[in-house]
Amino acid sequence: MFSTEEKKEALQEKLKRIGQDGLLAFYEELNEAEKSALLCDIEAIDLPLMERLYQTIGKPLSDSAAGEIEPIGGTDAASLPATERERLYRIGLNELAAGRMAALTMAGGQGTRLGHTGPKGTYDIGLPSHKSLFEIQCCGLKKISEEAGRTVPWYIMTSRINHDETTAFFAAHDYFGYGRENIYFFPQMMIPAMDREGRLLLENKYTVLKSPNGNGGLFASLLQSGGIEDMRRRGVTRIFICGIDNCLVKMADPLFLGFFEESGEKAAAKSFLKRTADEKAGVFCKRGGAPCVIEYTEIPKALAEQKDEQGTWVYGDTNVLNYIFELDTAERLADAGLPYHIAVKKLNYIDFRTGTPAILPDGYKFELFLFDAFSRLDGLAVLRIERTEEFAPVKNLTGIDSAETAREMYLNIHKEELLQ
Ligand code: UTP
Repeated sequence: MFSTEEKKEALQEKLKRIGQDGLLAFYEELNEAEKSALLCDIEAIDLPLMERLYQTIGKPLSDSAAGEIEPIGGTDAASLPATERERLYRIGLNELAAGRMAALTMAGGQGTRLGHTGPKGTYDIGLPSHKSLFEIQCCGLKKISEEAGRTVPWYIMTSRINHDETTAFFAAHDYFGYGRENIYFFPQMMIPAMDREGRLLLENKYTVLKSPNGNGGLFASLLQSGGIEDMRRRGVTRIFICGIDNCLVKMADPLFLGFFEESGEKAAAKSFLKRTADEKAGVFCKRGGAPCVIEYTEIPKALAEQKDEQGTWVYGDTNVLNYIFELDTAERLADAGLPYHIAVKKLNYIDFRTGTPAILPDGYKFELFLFDAFSRLDGLAVLRIERTEEFAPVKNLTGIDSAETAREMYLNIHKEELLQ
């Protein structure tokens, strides 16, 4: 057994060699508990991975798919006959009644653009009822559970940064009447952030600065936290997945589930049609034979502008961030080794020289994207929905995709209910 001091000496040597010994800058000032917390925190970092990530900055992703781009062939829900929509809806509802699908909300993001102090799900978009984003989703789940005659289990991914505040918020609101036993909170994994020189930073004198590892960390975090085991225990075999910030999301949508069941695929995604050829959004396609989301910056202009005989964009199905995954597939993808994307973001850290809080306007954060997992699938069933009916994102404080625009869309869709 090594003493704390011996451990520190060995770690200091190692960190010095790779120029990361700033992490121990305040070690001597710490009490014993803080000293060992810091050493544990540093030991848990995959230092070779962080070095590799720094080296990849500015280079194209090694994992970025190559190969011929082909259409993915989505199904337009609105153009299905009403009887077919009804049939799919019934299939989905029966699955929900049998308890086979859980809903999962990804709420581990930091909501930097919105600037709300607190978890994004606690945000009040200004509805007459002042429902938070969490409560809006819960109301959707309650409604569908009532229709199915069975409560849909709800999994909520938080992060270390917002976990306690999220669970306290639910407790303070008595779980919105959904039942504590039907909600499972789990924190997502974190990854260190760094400055422009590749130096790891401190959040406080005894904690390394880390950020959530992106929504692509979902399946690994779900597995590690015991969430997948919990789903199996409840008899769940499918997961409905959405973000927290779309206030028009149709939680555990039976039509989507019925469509997924009939597709024979291991995963399904919702899309809506882009409005203009050059809209700044990723679209679904196949690349090298595998499903993928291609960024608007990557798609050749001629393909972005291509239309079919009906005048519909061939590459126009935009990613809604609303998926269904088969549980076994989700478990397999926990180990998919997805590539990290680099984001330049503001970081709050402790200055190594002064020991005081400081802000770095352009630090590096690393994120996994869930849609990168599609390239690991043989196929993906894409269901096209109406943007105005199901997509009202809350990303910014004002302007495009803000609380203001989302509120307007929500009130427009729910006007009948609100009048009752
Ligand atoms: P965004 O990519 O829009 O990120 O997340 P964000 O954190 O909400 O906002 P910005 O970019 O900092 O302004 C889309 C969805 O994915 C979740 C978010 O909570 C949101 O529901 N997410 C994102 C996670 O759960 N974990 C992450 O690490 C990142």
